[in-house]
Amino acid sequence: TAQYPAAARPDGSLVERAADAASVARPFPADFLFGAATAAYQIEGAAFEDGRTASIWDAFSRVPGAVVNADNGDVACDHYHRMPQDVALMQQLGLQTYRFSTSWSRVRPDGGPVNPKGVDFYSRLVDELLGAGIKPWLTLYHWDLPQALEEKGGWANRDTAFLFRDYALDVHEALGDRVDVWTTLNEPWCSSFLSYTGGAHAPGRQDVAAGLAAGHHLLLAHGLAVQALRERDPGLELGITLNLTVAKPVDPTNPGDLDAARRIDGQFNRFFLDPIFLGAYADDLLADVGHLGLDAVVQPGDLEVISTPIDTLGVNYYHGELVSDRPAEHPLLAAAPTDRPTRSPYPAADGVFNHPQGLPLTAMEWEVQPDGLRELLVRVQRDYAASAGVRLYVTENGAAYEDVVGGDGRVHDRERADFLEAHLGAILDAIDEGVPVHGYFYWSVMDNFEWAWGYDKRFGLVRVDYDTQERTVKDSGLAYASIIRERSLPR
Ligand code: NOJ
Repeated sequence: TAQYPAAARPDGSLVERAADAASVARPFPADFLFGAATAAYQIEGAAFEDGRTASIWDAFSRVPGAVVNADNGDVACDHYHRMPQDVALMQQLGLQTYRFSTSWSRVRPDGGPVNPKGVDFYSRLVDELLGAGIKPWLTLYHWDLPQALEEKGGWANRDTAFLFRDYALDVHEALGDRVDVWTTLNEPWCSSFLSYTGGAHAPGRQDVAAGLAAGHHLLLAHGLAVQALRERDPGLELGITLNLTVAKPVDPTNPGDLDAARRIDGQFNRFFLDPIFLGAYADDLLADVGHLGLDAVVQPGDLEVISTPIDTLGVNYYHGELVSDRPAEHPLLAAAPTDRPTRSPYPAADGVFNHPQGLPLTAMEWEVQPDGLRELLVRVQRDYAASAGVRLYVTENGAAYEDVVGGDGRVHDRERADFLEAHLGAILDAIDEGVPVHGYFYWSVMDNFEWAWGYDKRFGLVRVDYDTQERTVKDSGLAYASIIRERSLPR
């Protein structure tokens, strides 16, 4: 029972949609939120201004070989100084919501007392967004731990979880009157296994036990913050964002392949989903990694804290995995570009190989697998979200391509627009299968610092010229704006 109201065209004319248009367009539910995302370290720059001190990414990006071209976030998109113009661009794109993160190192430099100037930046950002009619969607931790806390053990140290709770309350003190949606962590898989075991991300450690400790302490930090924020302000919408995947065996009749898929599902999905939604780590996962350091850090009561009820689950999806225990062309997650030696992020997945399916690749060499998003949403709803009464959002999805600026000064990035439309289509497919998906955030609003890849990989709807800081809306940005305006996908 889709409704097709008269739609406003960019030139101001009103186009009455013909009744038969219903057969050529796919509408989104009336309450579906369209947004886009960024993260503090990736766009802000002003790394040492107004009292901000180093985070683990400031330190790690200075390690030789850690980041392509030795790039760092000192200037990034200079968003700290250009925030009002950037919000105006978001308004131009028609974004209904904007997902951003606060920098712990700006709000509490060195993990110490609150820095009023740091807080003031986010307060101005929230006011600017609200003034532009854009709903702020706040993430408290997108990978930039204060370096001073890393020097005390970082996420491998249990104390960090309690300090995170205090930081969350400080941010709430400043912004709680204007921000409704609070996400504790972004992709804790990356800030634990990839960072403390794999060594490909900050702080670049390569220690199996530290990775498992970090994973557990991040979950504990999440639970402690949810409890404290809920107590402080029962009306908040609280949640977490996870990078989840679909893991399929190459040969579903081969026990080795099935076990490879089980282990990948364990490390990416169940390590985080089970404690949060079921209050326990799965037995097979404990058998795989308990003795390697996980058992040693789980204390009585932790799982009750971690499973404190939440309201929203953010799913970040880029691609799935087709796996076996037999070598293929690409070892799983070989993608870290670093010149430094790194190791496999998760011990139980050693010996698992990712097999290409022959689908088109993005510039990250990630396969474009939109149907995996549908499958993932169906699974997460069925196994976790439905019984917990949690609202599902796709909080990240996007693609890097080798953009070129045309002679007309524009970026004709048809591939990115196709990627966006295909994944929005997969969300509509999931909705058709009965999964209530409430919104979508494209990654990213603008090109930015892509972690170990530096500025080499561009995901933006808006191009950033890093020499001039000029912004140009790409064709994909225009395509997204039109989808948002029409609230439907062209078929
Ligand atoms: C995941 C992360 O949350 C984000 O920071 C990153 O830039 C994108 N995916 C793309 O890799």
